[in-house]
This record gives sequence, structure tokens and C-alpha cells, in this order.
Amino acid sequence: MRFIKTKDYEDMSRKAANIIGAQIILKPTSVLGLATGSTPVTTYANLVKGYQNGDLDFSRISSVNLDEYKGLTRDNEQSYYYFMNHHLFKHVNIDPAKTYLPDGTEPDANKACQDYEEAIFATGGVDLQLLGIGHNGHIGFNEPSDNFADKTFCVDLAESTIKANQRFFASYEDVPKQAYTMGIGTIMAASKILILASGKDKAAIIKEAFFGPVTPAVQASILQFHPNVTIVGDEAAFAECEEIF
Ligand code: GLP
Repeated sequence: MRFIKTKDYEDMSRKAANIIGAQIILKPTSVLGLATGSTPVTTYANLVKGYQNGDLDFSRISSVNLDEYKGLTRDNEQSYYYFMNHHLFKHVNIDPAKTYLPDGTEPDANKACQDYEEAIFATGGVDLQLLGIGHNGHIGFNEPSDNFADKTFCVDLAESTIKANQRFFASYEDVPKQAYTMGIGTIMAASKILILASGKDKAAIIKEAFFGPVTPAVQASILQFHPNVTIVGDEAAFAECEEIF
């Protein structure tokens, strides 16, 4: 694993966008695996700047997102489709037909998950997967468990995740309790993985996930076994990993 320590969130976001930008320049037909959450917001803003200043061309890029809430329509402001469109897609020249997320409105979970795996397969596979990390070590919505899920599946969100995400909704009742998420096997199939982490509230989980034992109780820990992982984190997120720098 490659660890890159940045001064702060802004610095992390610029460096992350530079890495993703380099991927786009080197392989203009890249399949990007994208993530939601507050961590990548400014990374996306920097990619938009890269497009506006003529450095980045998204016209032949495809994207697949990690997850989507079950039951939310695309025009719901809390859906991950809405998030992606708001922060990235509508600001760059990516072809909307080549931006994939699980279909949160599909009530048949088996169908939604199988369709999504097929869509990912049809892209030819993810070149670079962007990830954030939850406080409990989740990636996508792979919550602590006694096993690692292979393919896209319907997950019951952990209580702590529902509470953490409540800040985006009017009330606890409004937060969806289930989501469709890529499985760990789907995520691990990406050629390269880029993890972002910012803030002191991520320091403990960064140490546990990447310097502790590999265990499904901390799903991100499996990334220790991936051959090409880069973690870009700010000083606060790496505060408990002083020994590596
Ligand atoms: C969310 C998402 C994850 C994200 C994580 C951390 O629930 N499903 O993809 O990485 O939680 O979010 P944040 O970046 O806001 O800390």
C-alpha cells in the first residue's frame, strides 16, 4: 500500500484529483469507480476545474458508483445519483449513458444487484476505484460482518451508519435502512484503488483497517491484500500512524 500524507482536506482533494486526472489523461477510455460521502466532494470540484481548463476530457470515460440507497428515486436530493450529478456529471462532458449506479427504485433486490454486476462487467472492469471509509471501516456500504460479500448485494445498513448519515436527512425515519452496494469482491476486482480519508474522526479506523488484522469485522482491511492501493489522507486522518512517515 502506498500512503500519501497531505496537509489538510484541500491538499488531499487536489492530490486525489491529480491522481484521477492522470488516469483520465493516460487512458481516456478509463472506467472510473466513484464514491459518495463528504470526503470526495472537493476532489470532484477539482476534477470539474480540470475539465473547465481543458486538461481533462471525460467524453470517453465510463463510471460505476459503489452504491445507492434502496427506495430513493434519482431526483431525490439524498440519492447517490443526485449527488454524483450535482457534484460531477452535470459539470463535465461525461456521457450520461455511461454513468452507472445501482437502481435504487428496483424493488426486486436480486434483479437490481444482478443487473448492476452485468453493467459493471459490460464496461470491461474498473481501472481506478475511488473509496472513502466509514467510521466502522465500511467501504461502499459493506458493513462489519462475519464474512466478505463477493458481488453487489442488498445490505441492511448498520445503526451507526444510519445515524452518521442522518445529518443529510430531515429525520432518522427518513434515512433509508437498506442500500444496494458493490460487494468486496466487486471492489477488489478494480485494477487500482484510491482511498481518501480526512479528519481526526477517521484516525482510529485508518490505523485499524490498514495496520490491523484483515477481518470482515473491518471490511476495509481486505484492501491490504489488493496489489495496487494508494491512500491519500490528511495529517489528522494519519494522526495514529506516525510510525510510517
Ligand atoms: C457513506 C458511503 C461511503 C462513504 C462513507 C464515508 O455512507 N456509503 O461510500 O465512503 O459513508 O462517508 P464520509 O466521506 O462522509 O465520511
